[in-house]
Amino acid sequence: MSSPRKLTPQEEARLAQVRANFQERRKVSESLEGIGVRVGVYSGKGGVGKTTVATNLAVTLAAQENDVALFDCDIDCPNVTRVLRISEGPIQNGEKLVPPSRFGVKVMSMAFFQDNEDEAIVWRGPMIHNAINQFLHSTEWGDPDYMIVDLPPGTSDAPLTVMQTLNLDGFVIVTTPHELAVLDAKRSINMIKKMNLKVFGIVENLSGSVFGTGGGKALAEEMELPFLGALTMSADYTNSQGPASLESDEVGAEFKVITDNLKAQIEAGK
Ligand SMILES: Nc1ncnc2c1ncn2[C@@H]1O[C@H](COP(=O)(O)OP(=O)(O)O)[C@@H](O)[C@H]1O
Ligand SMILES: [Mg+2]
Repeated sequence: MSSPRKLTPQEEARLAQVRANFQERRKVSESLEGIGVRVGVYSGKGGVGKTTVATNLAVTLAAQENDVALFDCDIDCPNVTRVLRISEGPIQNGEKLVPPSRFGVKVMSMAFFQDNEDEAIVWRGPMIHNAINQFLHSTEWGDPDYMIVDLPPGTSDAPLTVMQTLNLDGFVIVTTPHELAVLDAKRSINMIKKMNLKVFGIVENLSGSVFGTGGGKALAEEMELPFLGALTMSADYTNSQGPASLESDEVGAEFKVITDNLKAQIEAGK
């Protein structure tokens, strides 16, 4: 048997890289271990209601006696803390960060580490990846049944990096009934499919007389995906002090349908 050849410096470097990647993946999976189902809320466009769906979905699940975490990963527009009116950040506990809790939901957001709320941060892929890993390692999540993730919109580097880093179990796609939003949603769904990830279903938001109705359901049928439900365009969202699903019976009922359908899809996929 010939003795093993000495590795070239290039091979050594590659091996070190592989080892480092492996260790990092192990660390991430360790920090995600206690977390039940990881659901990304995603859309092709901004402003269609991702944050609204993510926060209300999280509080609805929490009101149903689930342990829920909400992770705001929309790096350019981290709005979850604004919607939930959280002003204090996480508390340091040794090396760990204890996330603030609202309506029974543990909330972690990129916004906590932004000095000025109005300032946009320009994030590059590796920075996003590192920041999210850092968040995952250092946050004391406990053992939530669900982690809802508010993702950056679109099909650029940012959402892709978040999806890959977080290793999400599946996605809720938010669209409006409008034709262009539906087209964007279709692109996003195709991207998720290309990554071999799962779409739990589609939510149509801003449904009603202004933008029409039915676009989300038609998209679901066309893409052969579950339709989770529609959310009517309503002043209840702007009039509410907290999450509209807790303050308005109509909004609450719509979110109950969406949450029940999502839970059924999660169960079906197990
Ligand atoms: N069904 C709805 N009816 C009325 N206003 C809504 C509805 N859904 C969202 N909004 C409002 O639209 C704006 C954008 O929603 P948001 O959830 O922040 O979108 P995104 O996170 O996709 O950018 C917010 O001011 C929100 O309160
Ligand atoms: Mg948002």
